[in-house]
Amino acid sequence: MHSFEKLLSDNKTWARQKKVSNPEFFTQLAKEQKPEFLWIGCSDSRVPAEIIVNAEPGEMFIHRNIANQMIATDFNCLSVLQYAVTVLQVKHIIVCGHYNCGGVKAALGRQSSQLVITNKWLMHIKDIYRLNKAEIDALPTEEQRVNRLVELNILEQVQTLAHTSIIQQAWHEDNRPTLHGWVYGLNDGLLKPLVTLYPDTEIEPIFKYDYHEAEMALPEKKLRSV
Ligand code: CO
Repeated sequence: MHSFEKLLSDNKTWARQKKVSNPEFFTQLAKEQKPEFLWIGCSDSRVPAEIIVNAEPGEMFIHRNIANQMIATDFNCLSVLQYAVTVLQVKHIIVCGHYNCGGVKAALGRQSSQLVITNKWLMHIKDIYRLNKAEIDALPTEEQRVNRLVELNILEQVQTLAHTSIIQQAWHEDNRPTLHGWVYGLNDGLLKPLVTLYPDTEIEPIFKYDYHEAEMALPEKKLRSV
């Protein structure tokens, strides 16, 4: 059997078992999704989102990319974010990174001429290193330097989320979602919370959308910015 054929055969077994334990499982799920969580994680195969938190289909809306980044000009993650917040009305957004992340490790190395596109994707992480160079360089081992940058990257992505109009508008109008930054340990399988931003978090003025002032200036028209 080829490796990909095993996937198809395991899928048949999985679907059969689900149906045996709950005959309505698929018919109910097919009707709608109402996940409470948006998960932004790393593409790394060792950090499978649903499996590590024992979530069932329908429980989490998921976006994964190299080194769990939320890039303010990336329409892929922005569209996932907008749909999750505006349509699905998720209550929590979790940015989950992991120690020993290959993307973060690569960002701490030289650029590769074989991976010009990947280099560009990692450029933001190089910036996080540059802004925290003294702290990171003071750590004695490469593993510690990578793992500290993994943590700083997660904190940065949570900040970037808070700087989007999508989040600020939802905070302003609906008092949700709460933003979480978690880190996963490949060695022990455990998640560690690093940061939580609640909807009343004060945003740095230069990143702040002026919803209150806009509503006062144009009371007849609710401004919506993207
Ligand atoms: Co990774």
